[in-house]
Amino acid sequence: MKKTCLVTGCAGFIGSHLTQSLLDQGHAVVGVDNFASGYVHNMEGFKDNDDFIFYEKSITEPHLLERLKQKHRELDIVFQLAAVVSVPYSVENPELTMQVNFEANRNMLDSAREMGLSNYIFAGSAAEYGNEERLPVKEEYADDAQQLSPYGVAKYLSSSYIEKSGYGCALRFFNIFGPRQDPTSQYSGVISRFVEFGLAGKNMVIFGDGDQSRDFLYVSDVVTSYLIAAGLDSEGRGPLAGIYNVGTGKNRSILELASIVGKLTSAPQEIDFRPERAGDIKHSCADVSKITEAGFKPEVAFDLGLARTVEWAGK
Ligand SMILES: NC(=O)c1ccc[n+]([C@@H]2O[C@H](COP(=O)([O-])OP(=O)(O)OC[C@H]3O[C@@H](n4cnc5c(N)ncnc54)[C@H](O)[C@@H]3O)[C@@H](O)[C@H]2O)c1
Repeated sequence: MKKTCLVTGCAGFIGSHLTQSLLDQGHAVVGVDNFASGYVHNMEGFKDNDDFIFYEKSITEPHLLERLKQKHRELDIVFQLAAVVSVPYSVENPELTMQVNFEANRNMLDSAREMGLSNYIFAGSAAEYGNEERLPVKEEYADDAQQLSPYGVAKYLSSSYIEKSGYGCALRFFNIFGPRQDPTSQYSGVISRFVEFGLAGKNMVIFGDGDQSRDFLYVSDVVTSYLIAAGLDSEGRGPLAGIYNVGTGKNRSILELASIVGKLTSAPQEIDFRPERAGDIKHSCADVSKITEAGFKPEVAFDLGLARTVEWAGK
């Protein structure tokens, strides 16, 4: 059945893939973005689609969801991706981070519940676990005191609010990668940075010894997890409520990553090692038992995801 969905952050990396997929499945999308870190060009594939309507607005705007619902009566599912996405930026701007990543989310969740929307999916983060040393990390390990940044705190408050309210779902994403991830900021995801370096024929820069590891998930698998959470999955999985880790359950070292990207981009295999960065965590890996039980299984192998990312970046 055709649904009308709100996607906040639709001009961003993940939001643009999610929007495209919803439209491809015949749903209608109301998109909101203020271009804080997103781009018009990310919406190229769907901006003229008759089932897509875009509002350049901030999610901090009072009563945003109520106003959108008045205009789009059929609006039924919210995908809340808009956020301050840079951890270092959040350290410099803690108040704004709290407004966008927690308060605006709480307000929209309350409105969605009061208006009887069928589902509300929030983009949580592995940063909610801070430097958790029990690996793989289970959902219940997150607690009040362990986050290392305002980004992590605000995401944790939002996920917890969703869990306590008994309405909606928070997907705690680990490290996501794929086409359209912005490589231009020095704080971009490590994969988009390595691909950028590789294609430019530069040595890759690693902070620390490269033994640190992350759980990397390809963006189309993230979209699948969203569709399951919202109950829009073509195989009938979901919907989901509460908090779920979303990752592969397998961690990869940064050195391994550099080696694969080096081969794919024919970059020189030399690596510039720099001192470890303060606040960087050593290892991160999701316990994915809960979302696996819900039927989710990553489909895109790491090497294939990297090859697709390199191909996209090289165009
Ligand atoms: N990329 C990852 O590895 C990762 C991991 C964990 C969680 N997440 C979460 O997933 C979501 C999407 O991240 P992304 O990687 O696509 O980042 P992104 O920066 O590409 O997308 C975020 C989008 O939100 C928009 N935005 C920011 N503040 C806004 C506001 N106040 N009002 C309206 N729009 C606003 C930005 O312009 C951007 O288009 C974020 O909530 C992020 O925290 C991402």
